Amino acid sequence: IHAVRAGLVDPTFATGYPLVAWDSVHYLEIMRHGYPPRSITHVPEIIAFFCNYCAYAAADLAGSRRMQYPSNVRVMHVPCTGKIEMEHILAAFEKGIDGVLIAGCLEGGCHFLEGNLRAKKRSEYLREMLDQIGVGRDRLRMVNLSAAMAPTFVERVKEIVETVESLGPNPLRKSG
Ligand code: FES
Repeated sequence: IHAVRAGLVDPTFATGYPLVAWDSVHYLEIMRHGYPPRSITHVPEIIAFFCNYCAYAAADLAGSRRMQYPSNVRVMHVPCTGKIEMEHILAAFEKGIDGVLIAGCLEGGCHFLEGNLRAKKRSEYLREMLDQIGVGRDRLRMVNLSAAMAPTFVERVKEIVETVESLGPNPLRKSG
């Protein structure tokens, strides 16, 4: 009602949305992102880098078994987790991604011998760095899976989504 009086909301706003006393910031959020405003119901955006062998096969198996996991995880295939450069992860966080999951083969099972071990070292280094820049280490996680570990894959995806939800939006996310 205050917003209508202040001229921020058209009283003929015939969308069925409740007319509440949004301040102008919320109103602009609604205009940009729809209702409810993103700042109130933030859905975390998560990127999962999956190596094309074991991890992707585990995800595929989970899909074929119709196992449910959160849909707000965007999957990127990589030939091996060793191919993921630190710049890729940092660029994702700079662009406002809320969480990153790296899934590779089990240790000793990498098809490129040591790719997953390199990825492990990089992700540990990056987790430190994320703490130092105030983003938080828990937004980045690496897991190792065999092709048969569909249930573990689902658990890990759920875990990172829950963790990132509890952390809230990436502080580097630009408002608007
Ligand atoms: Fe899967 Fe290297 S091939 S982590």
